Amino acid sequence: MEKLIVKGKKKLSGVIRISGSKNATLPILAASILNKNKIEINRVPVVKDVITMVELLKHIGSNIKFDLKKKKIFIHNENRKLKTTAPYKLLKTMRAGVIVLGPLLSRFKKAKVSLPGGCAIGSRPVDIHLFVLKKLGAKIKIKNGYIFAETKKGLVGKRIRLPSISVGATENALIAASYARGTTYLSNCACEPEIQDLTNFLKKMGVKIKWIGNRKIKILGSQNLKPTIHKVMFDRIESGTFIIAGALTGKRLKVLGIETKILKKEISILKKMGVKLKVNKNDIIVLSSKNIKPVSINTQPYPGFPTDLQAQIMVLMTRANGISKIKENIFEKRFMHVPELNRMGAKIKILGDSSFIYGPQQLNGAEVMATDLRASVSLVLAGLAAEDRTIINRVYHLDRGYEKLETKLRKCRANIFRKN
Ligand code: EPZ
Repeated sequence: MEKLIVKGKKKLSGVIRISGSKNATLPILAASILNKNKIEINRVPVVKDVITMVELLKHIGSNIKFDLKKKKIFIHNENRKLKTTAPYKLLKTMRAGVIVLGPLLSRFKKAKVSLPGGCAIGSRPVDIHLFVLKKLGAKIKIKNGYIFAETKKGLVGKRIRLPSISVGATENALIAASYARGTTYLSNCACEPEIQDLTNFLKKMGVKIKWIGNRKIKILGSQNLKPTIHKVMFDRIESGTFIIAGALTGKRLKVLGIETKILKKEISILKKMGVKLKVNKNDIIVLSSKNIKPVSINTQPYPGFPTDLQAQIMVLMTRANGISKIKENIFEKRFMHVPELNRMGAKIKILGDSSFIYGPQQLNGAEVMATDLRASVSLVLAGLAAEDRTIINRVYHLDRGYEKLETKLRKCRANIFRKN
């Protein structure tokens, strides 16, 4: 099994170009199911989850090609009959596969989609996804680990309030409503920038969508969709990860290919911690930051601080002069990185849904185990800041969502390499 070896304490300097967003690409690919015309998607990150979603679309019969070099996906499904089953073997490693439920059901009036596999960061049910689809007219039953959904006359637009904020359920509902008859109003929606990117993609396909304030969407469904070209937005979690790497060990690290207005919350927290940032419209320069201050943060749906950056900022907090606190409000088991960080010399205590980080502590290298995508990258960050050598096992978690992580870091003088 592959591992990453990091030799810490190297000063990072140089330029890092951010890839397209994994979490925007996945629902956009699912939405392609609605359209039989030509689709071209650019700036697609070559990461395992995207490859799995491409396999899932191939499995249902989609004529999809992924040009890995050019990071482009081409889809053309004219005169093609698609299957409506998404099997367990493809959903067990990637929960986001459940977003094909809405588009399959909306276009073909039936779908059989495996319940997603278990997850290290929490129980992650799909009840809200099913709730919205039922409101749009689906009959749903669960049997043998599968969701069976059908709608005899097709989905019909409705006024629906999501019982609580969910990124995936908002995406499933938005895509399904885009092909439904009539108008749908969704309220209490997630408004992550990736959902805005999905909205832009659906609009380019010809669906009339209007966001009313932050959490309400009006969707006028259409079955007459157009050929579409789209460029995926930047990966805001990858950007945050590298900005934190710069804050931890940087001399002068430039992170580019981003829109800093989307990163307001992250920038304000990092500035509060004393990280020296030069913020431009489409790039950020992270300068050597010595006196890191403790802060208290809460993970929240956008525009709050993202749960997907919680593990990474925790590493920076080990540097702070005092006690920092993180309250994790989104997932119930998302502190799996804490015992591993403690093995590297951090002093972190978990109390219910909160972690207390006692700084400053000098981390030192150890052999550690990655448990999920963001936990694994936090161990890489810890390794970059630590004395001696860190060995990170189970890096396949990292490959689900980071494109060429080691190459990007090595270009900025990090000492990191992969070994079998
Ligand atoms: C998306 O997951 C992201 N995944 C996650 O990214 C991210 O952590 C999460 O949103 C929160 O921002 C993708 O975009 C592919 P949710 P999702 O539905 O849609 C509960 C990463 O590292 N819930 O907003 O699954 C759920 O258990 C990851 O890239 C229900 O109870 O997240 C959680 O507590 C991992 N019932 C909360 O809502 C439901 O039907 C928010 O989950 C759905 C969700």
